[in-house]
Amino acid sequence: MTGLTIENLSFAYEDRPDEPVFERLNLRVKPGEFLSILGPSGCGKSTLLNILSGILPGYDGRVLVGGEAVRGISSHFASMPQDDLLMPYRNILDNVCLYGTLHGKAKEYREKALRIIDIFGLAGYEYEYPAKLSGGMRQRAAFLRTALCPAEIMLLDEPFGALDVITRGDMQDWLLSVRKELDRTTILVTHDMDEALRLSDRVIVLKGRPAVFAGSFHPVGSAEDSKGRLAESALREELYDCLR
Ligand SMILES: Nc1ncnc2c1ncn2[C@@H]1O[C@H](COP(=O)(O)OP(=O)(O)O)[C@@H](O)[C@H]1O
Ligand SMILES: [Mg+2]
Repeated sequence: MTGLTIENLSFAYEDRPDEPVFERLNLRVKPGEFLSILGPSGCGKSTLLNILSGILPGYDGRVLVGGEAVRGISSHFASMPQDDLLMPYRNILDNVCLYGTLHGKAKEYREKALRIIDIFGLAGYEYEYPAKLSGGMRQRAAFLRTALCPAEIMLLDEPFGALDVITRGDMQDWLLSVRKELDRTTILVTHDMDEALRLSDRVIVLKGRPAVFAGSFHPVGSAEDSKGRLAESALREELYDCLR
């Protein structure tokens, strides 16, 4: 698995050159790590992911994947946006294999998708259209489409943000249960503290303008005894203070 390094990243949107979103921001993500970036709306979380995925090329600094500098759209990152962006007139299998179809690898992708579709809870729905699926299922289809991309690092931008609270909890359970099988370095962006604590190896807080990483936290795992619960509540308090 592959790690990621961000070195001295500076970026401002063209219409606000004097208010940079980032100024000399640094970050290191370990190979295989599941990292959550937690921060208030507008702090720059999506901007950061868009820089990594190559959508926003006009930045200073360096992005290194596995020690190698990358810039622009690269095959190292697979992004999953908040909206599922499934095409209504394509069935689920065609939707999740879109990348393969565009790259002349339709057959290979279909075979792989059919092999792993069960993990995504979509077996039996291969030939249904998105309108027939629930919000959670559509989101898992978007996940499958992202996971089929041969990229080392997955970028998830508030993937459950549009789901109701019950479905969101189910999706978090599901993601926890398949994390091992996904087997990918992952950066999850969220403004939901509980989500970050539940899912991640490490949670970092992004805030301010220019935005900085204000704290780094290691979730304590499932708190089943009183000692564990105490550690968890201390961590939540510390994280909450850092976010404010
Ligand atoms: N396309 C854009 N043009 C100009 N400013 C933008 C653009 N997208 C986002 N911003 C601004 O950049 C800041 C960070 O936005 P964003 O990365 O979307 O935050 P987050 O994802 O943390 O909510 C905000 O102040 C936002 O208004
Ligand atoms: Mg955002």
